[in-house]
Amino acid sequence: MALMIRIAVLVSGSGTNLQSLIDNCKSGYIPGKIVLVISSNPKAFAIERAKRAKIPVIVLNRKRYKNDWTYSKRILKEVRKKDVDLICLAGFLWKLAPNIIKEYRGRIMNIHPALLPKFGGKGMYGLRVHKAVLKAGEKFSGATVHFVDEKYDHGPIIIQKKLKVRNNETPESLAKRVLKIEHKIYPLAVRLFALGRLKLQG
Ligand code: GRF
Repeated sequence: MALMIRIAVLVSGSGTNLQSLIDNCKSGYIPGKIVLVISSNPKAFAIERAKRAKIPVIVLNRKRYKNDWTYSKRILKEVRKKDVDLICLAGFLWKLAPNIIKEYRGRIMNIHPALLPKFGGKGMYGLRVHKAVLKAGEKFSGATVHFVDEKYDHGPIIIQKKLKVRNNETPESLAKRVLKIEHKIYPLAVRLFALGRLKLQG
């Protein structure tokens, strides 16, 4: 893998994971450059973060597209143009279709705020995840970085880090603590990828 990999980040929300990738590229911890941010949501604060970091940002409002296939095709067009090596989903709430998964197999990552394979899948995002974890009485929770394949939150796991659930934990307090873990393990996963230390087996 060429050093200084070219990264595209797909967002839908506040962009705190985008921010942590921006900061870690800037510090050199990630030997890479974010060359494009695509937001599925015109109101995402992540757009503001990209602008402040002088990163080209495109809003592709997902609601304007018929289905995942046409939306993914549109994304493909942009990432091809920018010669992207790695696509990072960061708080991105939509499913990518097989067209982009095929072309970027092993080069699309996602961060999920739970210890996959549990508490993942369609509709499992944001506070819903943490509510389900607490409801299930889990002793531990945490975050997962994984390669993206055709199913939600399903591809090969790259890094997981767990934390102990406190007895007075609320979904909000758990979300906050898990988010801190996300901001650490995502840059590490991207760094390992850029250094050519990750390979897909089986
Ligand atoms: C958070 O719930 C995070 O756990 C998940 O996406 C949501 C927003 O993240 N990855 P971000 O602040 O937009 O990166």
